[in-house]
Amino acid sequence: PLVHGTELFEAARKGHYCIGAFNTNNLEWTRAILKGAQELNVPVLIQTSMGAAKYMGGYELCQQLVQATMKSMNITVPVVMHLDHGNYEAAKAAIAAGYNSVMFDGHDLPFEENLEKTQEIVKLAHAKGISVEAEVGSIGGEEDGVIGEGELADVEEAKKLAATGIDFLAAGIGNIHGKYPANWTGLHFDRLQELADAIDLPLVLHGGSGIPQEQVEKAISMGISKLNINTECQLAFAKATREYIEAGKDQEGKGYDPRKLLAPGTQAITDTFKEICGWMGTRPVK
Ligand code: G3H
Ligand code: ZN
Repeated sequence: PLVHGTELFEAARKGHYCIGAFNTNNLEWTRAILKGAQELNVPVLIQTSMGAAKYMGGYELCQQLVQATMKSMNITVPVVMHLDHGNYEAAKAAIAAGYNSVMFDGHDLPFEENLEKTQEIVKLAHAKGISVEAEVGSIGGEEDGVIGEGELADVEEAKKLAATGIDFLAAGIGNIHGKYPANWTGLHFDRLQELADAIDLPLVLHGGSGIPQEQVEKAISMGISKLNINTECQLAFAKATREYIEAGKDQEGKGYDPRKLLAPGTQAITDTFKEICGWMGTRPVK
């Protein structure tokens, strides 16, 4: 079933495990993620960036696509439909469209404005039981046009955001969207510890693709309950599709049929999902 995020992520925090938040881009991506979650019997968060929602035809279509796909696949695990890195307008639109959870990302606003708008989104969302993620500091790199300087989260600002009643908090701790550069120095665990000590909320690690497994495991043990993954699935999809084409399989029989052409990439997303959930330690649903 579709569920709100609050209880799932609170349970993950208390149990020191993590739930994956995977970005979707289309029907194949959605099916691939749901298939992996159902096969592992784990909860999952499916999210759309503003760019992906625009590409797919809007928030209502995204929400309905996930809902209808779950029904057609007989999905029984808990699924949270979430807006990833939304601005103020996007958060309101996703709430109206029936998303279960929204991220209001105000990192590019002056902090007081980020705080004020987060508060407003919390009010709108919580009136409908919808969970809210906010962002403190910023995530380096770029994701779908959202650019961050990689500023470390300020603990006092994090406390103020937590006091708005948000359900989980994304923090800049040296994490980066997209591929990590060769000279990346790793996550800032000291800052993560300070945040975890100061705030009584599940914390979110963005830029999950490419962080070494030991660092992710350590971060989870310190209070990270939601791990965002996008690039890893894109790389896996692209690689499997390229291999299919380079092997000339699109030329054999009716291998150019999109249902065949997209199949290896789609399976690669499911495989990537299962691999990541495996080492992330997501608990199966009872
Ligand atoms: O918001 C989405 C994530 O932070 C994904 O980051 O593409 O580096 O995995 P990633
Ligand atoms: Zn992110």
